[in-house]
Amino acid sequence: MIEVVEETASTNADLSRRLGAGEGLAEGFWLRAVRQSAGRGRRGRQWSSPEGNLYASTVIALRADDPPVHTLAFVAALAVGDLMALRLRGGTDCQLKWPNDVLVGGAKICGILLERTGDHVIAGIGVNVVSAPRLPDRATTSILSENPADSGDAQAVLGDLASCFAARLVRWRSEGLASTLAEWTRHAHPQGTPLLVAMDEEGMVPGAFAGLDPDGALRLRLADGSLRVVHAGDVSLA
Ligand code: BTN
Repeated sequence: MIEVVEETASTNADLSRRLGAGEGLAEGFWLRAVRQSAGRGRRGRQWSSPEGNLYASTVIALRADDPPVHTLAFVAALAVGDLMALRLRGGTDCQLKWPNDVLVGGAKICGILLERTGDHVIAGIGVNVVSAPRLPDRATTSILSENPADSGDAQAVLGDLASCFAARLVRWRSEGLASTLAEWTRHAHPQGTPLLVAMDEEGMVPGAFAGLDPDGALRLRLADGSLRVVHAGDVSLA
């Protein structure tokens, strides 16, 4: 089910409040806002949310035997990758970047924000459908600039995204984490790709992508040949 509101501060904040108030939101439920006045990005950043692009959040009800919760980042990224294959007709080069960035031709086309509320995770996804906000530190693109034949209809994009997300969630649970990580790796930058990881304490740490740990952590080969395992940090292609 998809609920649409004209404007709200943040669809993630709304779902968090509704879950906190005891509202039973089933998996498969999506809240979409046509505009957000205080869209939230990762690491406390704002997410610019003018009309035309997609801003939507859904809930995942955690189960005792689910893979580790942080690996939902890969589920969300793979779902958006599947969405791009549909909307861009598979014709454009789409690449995943750890942990949950989706790049088209090297440019950011969406944002994914996962937040936990008790035994639920809220997955908030913003997709640049008709326009791409300018960011100071990275290139951005939109579905329409990559595929001018697309309808540019955010509601239709959400219909596709909801199907892609549900299918990836089922596979995460039924096939297990190793299969999800293998799929993510297949669509990610190749081993050896130079990366810059922004760490809270140390600033920018350069290294080369050396695959994933079995729990999904990023393996970074440092200049001295040692291996650094990164569990959290902002990654950019160097
Ligand atoms: C990022 O910084 O890359 C993540 C951005 C996530 C934006 C989406 S838009 C829908 C949902 N509601 C929010 O306030 N944020 C997420």
